[in-house]
Amino acid sequence: MLSTSYGSFPTTRLRRLRHHAKVRDLVRETVLHADRFVMPIFVKSGAGIKQPIASMPGLHQFSTDRLTEEIESLQQAGINKILLFGIPSEKDALGQVSYSKTGVVQSAMAVIKKISPDMLIIADLCFCEYTDHGHCGVLSHIDREGVARVHNDETLKLLAKQAVCLAEAGVDIVAPSGCMDGMVHTVRGALDQAGFCDLPILSYAMKYASSFYGPFREAAEGAPKAGDRATYQSDCANAREALRECALDVLEGADMLMVKPAHTYLDVIYRVKQAYPALPLAAYHVSGEYAMIKAAAANGWLDEKRAVLEVLTAIHRAGADFIITYYAKDVAGWL
Ligand code: PBG
Repeated sequence: MLSTSYGSFPTTRLRRLRHHAKVRDLVRETVLHADRFVMPIFVKSGAGIKQPIASMPGLHQFSTDRLTEEIESLQQAGINKILLFGIPSEKDALGQVSYSKTGVVQSAMAVIKKISPDMLIIADLCFCEYTDHGHCGVLSHIDREGVARVHNDETLKLLAKQAVCLAEAGVDIVAPSGCMDGMVHTVRGALDQAGFCDLPILSYAMKYASSFYGPFREAAEGAPKAGDRATYQSDCANAREALRECALDVLEGADMLMVKPAHTYLDVIYRVKQAYPALPLAAYHVSGEYAMIKAAAANGWLDEKRAVLEVLTAIHRAGADFIITYYAKDVAGWL
């Protein structure tokens, strides 16, 4: 089969196209570009804060007054798309500050739009950073086995408020990440009703209950106080389930889909891309995937730059059209 369609040795020698760097450049199938990276940023309430995140070397939490230096350095590196996470000074059971005009992400957006009107701002829509219990929605109870029960439909009502509030504050894309059933439908309906029918939704369509979010929970101060997220995020053993998650989100009006984490779920990225070739697909190279490479590189066990470029190429090759990664700024400099 191979010999009839592609020829055979010795007529065909695949190494011919590997001898020279310029030929390799010419025939490379997957090419990374700074345009296809999104940098996550952690904004914290308060002033004068540039706090290093211990488990994510090289990254910081910033207060809004310290954002200028970070935004300018991103721009210089050629990164003009960011994903914002807010860390409020006060949390409550419902995460009400997430839909306040003076909330931390709302305030940060005003500052960023002033420093850099061209910066594309995506906001994560979720409650785990805003609730005192650390779950991604309204907690009905933690049962006797320690299992967290998050109220799906009560959460949706608040999610609608969060989406509209962020839209009014000038966000460019909203990204619901709480894994509530019907979240895309609810957010689309609320945005349309408020006059934001042109605001795109990037759905965290297939988000796994992953150990690789560990460092993020330090960075965003959003770890659950009790229980875990297994009752709302997906089981890492399931790949076919991604097709149901995506089918629903597409019907509900998702403009773009996402698979998260990325490096550990290349098969899922591939399946989703094959099933929905016409929908832009994002992959989130998460905090733990960043931290692993950092730790190995710090020990001299991996060449950081080569490892990162290889991993991000693999994610892109599997089918992701764009990648959310804490390495965005570094990679843009390397390319
Ligand atoms: C939830 C959210 C999480 C991440 C992004 N959005 C954490 C979680 O689900 O527990 C994780 C991202 C990362 O690990 O880099 N708002």
